[in-house]
Amino acid sequence: MPEPNQTTSKTFAVVIMAAGKGTRLKSKRAKVLHEIGGRPLLGHVIEAAKKILPATDIFVVVGYQAEAVCAAVASTCVKFVPQFDQRGTGHAIMCAREHVEGYQHILVLSGDVPLIRPETIAGLCDFHLSSKSAMTVLTAEPPDPEGYGRVVRAGGDRVKAIIEQKALSNSQTKLREINSGIYAFATRLLFAHIDRLKTDNVHGEFYLTDMAALLVKAKEKVVATKAADAHEVLGANTMAELASLDASLRARKCSELMAAGVAIYRPETCMIDSEVNIGSDTIVEPFVQILGKTKIGSDCRIRSFSVISNSQLADGVTVRPGCIIDQSQVAAGALLGPYSHLRPGSEIGEGAHVGNFVETKQARLGRGAKANHLTYLGDAEIGAGVNVGAGTITCNYDGERKHRTVIEDGAFIGSDSTLVAPVRVGKDAYIAAGSTITDDVPAEALALGRARQATKEGWSKRRKERKATGD
Ligand code: UD1
Ligand code: CA
Repeated sequence: MPEPNQTTSKTFAVVIMAAGKGTRLKSKRAKVLHEIGGRPLLGHVIEAAKKILPATDIFVVVGYQAEAVCAAVASTCVKFVPQFDQRGTGHAIMCAREHVEGYQHILVLSGDVPLIRPETIAGLCDFHLSSKSAMTVLTAEPPDPEGYGRVVRAGGDRVKAIIEQKALSNSQTKLREINSGIYAFATRLLFAHIDRLKTDNVHGEFYLTDMAALLVKAKEKVVATKAADAHEVLGANTMAELASLDASLRARKCSELMAAGVAIYRPETCMIDSEVNIGSDTIVEPFVQILGKTKIGSDCRIRSFSVISNSQLADGVTVRPGCIIDQSQVAAGALLGPYSHLRPGSEIGEGAHVGNFVETKQARLGRGAKANHLTYLGDAEIGAGVNVGAGTITCNYDGERKHRTVIEDGAFIGSDSTLVAPVRVGKDAYIAAGSTITDDVPAEALALGRARQATKEGWSKRRKERKATGD
């Protein structure tokens, strides 16, 4: 990762073009809001830009669904520039003019080119500065250039023009070098000529790409530099392209994790979001999803078919197959599953067990507590070493409001108990199996909340005899 460069940060502003609708996606949602790796396209671009420059120097041009787009990336603290009518990429930069005119250079990124790496952006900036050019285009040679603008070189690094796919002449369709939609400009020269852009093209738009020929005509220097890996400048215009970028990003994520000592079996079957963190010697089995800002410690084992989102798991946690864990925290050495459902606000203590078909919500389980089978624990505080028997239910909802159940350290809850909240079971108390508990139970007491058993001796024998005599 390049260090933020002091000279660069004073010289460069970043403009990210993100105002378009994304017509080719055939979706109601703005293109830059579509997600890959569990994060909007625009979020990836901003993340890469922030590795190079502070958020205060990053300007995002928004237009279509501007409010939703701003909200989706508000936490990044970048600045927003409105483009009320989306009249093309050239027009997007015209809209940003007053905000960025004070910088010496402008780095332009596209909100729909999300795999771009900070190293590549930094390389482009360096190349632009050292070549002292008016415009520097980042290019690539992907296996299939179809759909992209092509770069016509004038010899060496020099560029003559950028021609959009639809305007290519027959001979130009052979050009393999594409325009990535990422550029660096000398601010003064860009704005000295930008008003000359015309809309005489198939879309009737101001194309930023036309700046290349305009600047060349004005005898300014326009150069190109090719990205080493064509993959990272691929754009996402269709759902199929989105899916392919998503797959690339997740493969890259798995590789990074594996390089850091995480064992991922059959990584191609796992969905691990970009922001996930996993410690070394943790094993991730096939068909696991780890999403959002989840953090998993070292020496854990995440078994197949589990879906973990926005949760923190400490070291040595075992998640058996089929668990769903959402916005929860799990302490070291805990054992979950198979088929446990940790809903938001669950906090599972050190070495605690949550077993088959156990659902928790806003529930804290203390160190070594166990709830192994068929249980619902909602709005509950469960102390250390508590044993929650099979089929226990905290009745937390009275139809209007939620209430809390507190079970203090060392208590034993017999199987099939219903605890009608608000209720408290004291330290080391026992609840007899099958009880309905509506009143607090003091420490060290035994509470029975069920009808006394009645046993009728010889009842079945008498029934049989009655049947035989026909009575
Ligand atoms: C653009 C380039 C093309 C290049 C490709 C790389 C132009 C004319 N063409 O084509 O040469 O190969 O990117 O991916 O620039 N946007 C705005 N305001 C607008 C229009 C677009 O902010 O008025 C934003 C879009 O939201 C998008 C980006 O600019 O993030 C690029 O626009 P898009 O329409 O996707 O351009 P391409 O046709 O892909
Ligand atoms: Ca595009």
